[in-house]
Amino acid sequence: MSTAAAPASIARPQVRLTQNLINGQWVDAADGKTFNTYNPSTGEVIAEVPHSSAEDVDRAVKAARAAFESGPWPKMSAREYGNLLFKLADLIEENKEELAALEVLNNGKPISEVMAADLPLVISTYRYFAGWADKVYGDTIPVDRAMGRFFTYTRKEPIGVAGQIIPWNFPLLMQCWKWSAALATGNTVVLKPAEQTPLSALRVAELAMEAGYPDGVINVVQGLGDTGAAITEHPGVDKIAFTGHYETAQKIMASASKTLKRITFELGGKSPNIVFADADIDTAVQGAMAGIFFNQGEVCCAGSRLFVEEAVHAEFVDRFKQMAESRRIGDPFDPATEQGAQISQEQFDKIMGYIESGKKEGAQCITGGERVGDKGWFIKPTIFDHVNNDMRIARDEIFGPVVTVLPFTDHKQLIAQANDTVYGLAAAVWTRDITKAFNIANNVKAGTVWVNCYNTFDAGAPFGGYKFSGQGRECGRDALNNYLETKTVWVNLGDE
Ligand code: NAI
Ligand code: MG
Repeated sequence: MSTAAAPASIARPQVRLTQNLINGQWVDAADGKTFNTYNPSTGEVIAEVPHSSAEDVDRAVKAARAAFESGPWPKMSAREYGNLLFKLADLIEENKEELAALEVLNNGKPISEVMAADLPLVISTYRYFAGWADKVYGDTIPVDRAMGRFFTYTRKEPIGVAGQIIPWNFPLLMQCWKWSAALATGNTVVLKPAEQTPLSALRVAELAMEAGYPDGVINVVQGLGDTGAAITEHPGVDKIAFTGHYETAQKIMASASKTLKRITFELGGKSPNIVFADADIDTAVQGAMAGIFFNQGEVCCAGSRLFVEEAVHAEFVDRFKQMAESRRIGDPFDPATEQGAQISQEQFDKIMGYIESGKKEGAQCITGGERVGDKGWFIKPTIFDHVNNDMRIARDEIFGPVVTVLPFTDHKQLIAQANDTVYGLAAAVWTRDITKAFNIANNVKAGTVWVNCYNTFDAGAPFGGYKFSGQGRECGRDALNNYLETKTVWVNLGDE
């Protein structure tokens, strides 16, 4: 992850784009309905955005279908798909401060993080998949000679129209993970941003049109869950890519089953972050901080179950608490701010509910546990100590700045405890002992394992989950397969 410092200050943006983008046109919902989008750091309404109905979704899907079947898009070469993505990445880079400001305004995350983490990842990921576009190809297959002489080969073809439904915690990055792989492989897309964060996607869509995407290749429909459901039900959509809660994924799977859509999911987690007594405690404490408090804890792979070996538990927790208490919370536009606001009243209430539940279940809240200020949705970094794995706060994804510390002694039970969750997105281990590190890396059921690090991401490194944390992988070569069909062609070469 880049560590580029945020500029001294970034201007608060003017919100210009709020409409849907369908077939290259900016349009309102057909029935004129809207919903409000908020600034999480003040609780104030920023703008009204179209609440799209099934009719709007139908228009977007028809545009995406026409662009896929008969527009200029299917006649373009893979190299042109790559060049368009390179162009888009360049335009995002040229406009990164404006995009960062929109993200901060609508999400509440600190500007320093958006500039150091979100945007560099977005730009490098568009470029990474731009590079793949003209390197996707099939095989020639040696087949049984007894049947005759054949030239048999595979073609990698785009699936078609991809419906993409994304969450609010990393709006620009989630759009990028969905668009970059889909567009590099020649699909067309209908994106529904999260209702909490509709704004930044529209500016990227405008830049994509400027880059030269033909009308209908990219479409953005704004809306709530019912808008997402209309995408999953639409028979003209070939594939759904979703990031969010597993209960929503269950609904999507049921709905998409009627038309047997291809599906990939990136869902939540309750990731174990394991600190052995032989670890470098200073870096492990910093890793625990980044693991849970990065992005206000609104991270699918947050290290929310912190297993600490008993021998260093007291010392570790003491330093961790001090660091948590020194964290700067407040105006996300202030470059010195380390932690911004939670996304919404709903998430704020959910997190506060878990804090109450942890106290009732007998865990010790050693710091935090309360709101900061009286406007906006800010919550203090919160540490629960002496948690056991059966408590609700250790089982459910809280998706906020709340960590559960679980002291351990028995190394054999540790793996079983770490895996005792429905989730399997990520895990981390802090140790100087290579045997312990590999033991965890091999035996924990998770899509990513970090050894002496946390939250490192790269466009080339596959990311996704075991179990309830998802299916399929984003980033890396693996992500291309989310958007490809394999066609096998047999050519009879006749007699020699
Ligand atoms: P959600 O899963 O309900 O929403 C994510 C997206 O799905 C949004 O765009 C939403 O409009 C859409 N959606 C909602 N219902 C739908 C349906 N029936 N069909 C199709 N699309 C639908 O997540 P929500 O309500 O925003 O957050 C609830 C919890 O989910 C969070 O507290 C957190 O635990 C988890 N979550 C996990 C994320 C991750 O990165 N894995 C991201 C966001 C939330
Ligand atoms: Mg929901």
